[in-house]
Amino acid sequence: MKVLIVGANGMLGSQIVEELKDEFELIRASRQNSDIKVDITSPQSIKKMFETVGKIDALISAAGSTHFGSIESMTPELNAVSLNNKLAGQINLVLLGLDYINDNGSITLTSGVLMDDPVKDGASAAMANGGIKAFVKAAALDMPRGIRLNNVSPTILEESADQYGELFKGFLPVPGKRVALAYRKSLQGGQTGQTYEIY
Ligand SMILES: NC(=O)c1ccc[n+]([C@@H]2O[C@H](COP(=O)([O-])OP(=O)(O)OC[C@H]3O[C@@H](n4cnc5c(N)ncnc54)[C@H](OP(=O)(O)O)[C@@H]3O)[C@@H](O)[C@H]2O)c1
Repeated sequence: MKVLIVGANGMLGSQIVEELKDEFELIRASRQNSDIKVDITSPQSIKKMFETVGKIDALISAAGSTHFGSIESMTPELNAVSLNNKLAGQINLVLLGLDYINDNGSITLTSGVLMDDPVKDGASAAMANGGIKAFVKAAALDMPRGIRLNNVSPTILEESADQYGELFKGFLPVPGKRVALAYRKSLQGGQTGQTYEIY
């Protein structure tokens, strides 16, 4: 089974790779240091990635940057970072990748806890996360050829606690392994239209 993982060398992506690498043929994609280069903010770059990779059984996205900052300091341009990267970037992976997913394959996107349990300065990130959740719930109804579409919404990973802990005061970090299992559930289970909340 051929699985394309976008954002494979990130903190979250590397946990997913670790979980799946012994059982699946993984193709790692990101902007640098991966099997395939892609920038999800560019539809052209996404098209080129799929043309290069060809048919796959599953797509997992663990990529997507967001802007953090107060509403008072936020400009349309700063908010557009979250819109173009985490939200539209991941949705464009679905729109441009659908033809490359084999029958009965799966697509799994990533959102995050901040849409349900917000923190100060997190409105732009929460917007992108909520958009992913809503898109997945609705678009799953339209998926052709038995293709399933799910979303994983992790809280902060134990492995990221040093980096983002200041932002997530009072949140209990979860092991990367537990989050990675949600991607496995999406990949190998039968559900569609789900958001797996790993909080
Ligand atoms: N870590 C956590 O605790 C946590 C918790 C909840 C949700 N999340 C969400 O999970 C996602 C990944 O987070 P992370 O902590 O793993 O981040 P990370 O360590 O910075 O990794 C991001 C990954 O995505 C790739 N990437 C970034 N921008 C890209 C672009 N424009 N096009 C293609 N690839 C791109 C990066 O590789 P290149 O730099 O080579 O492109 C890298 O592989 C984010 O959406 C984040 O909000 C993370």
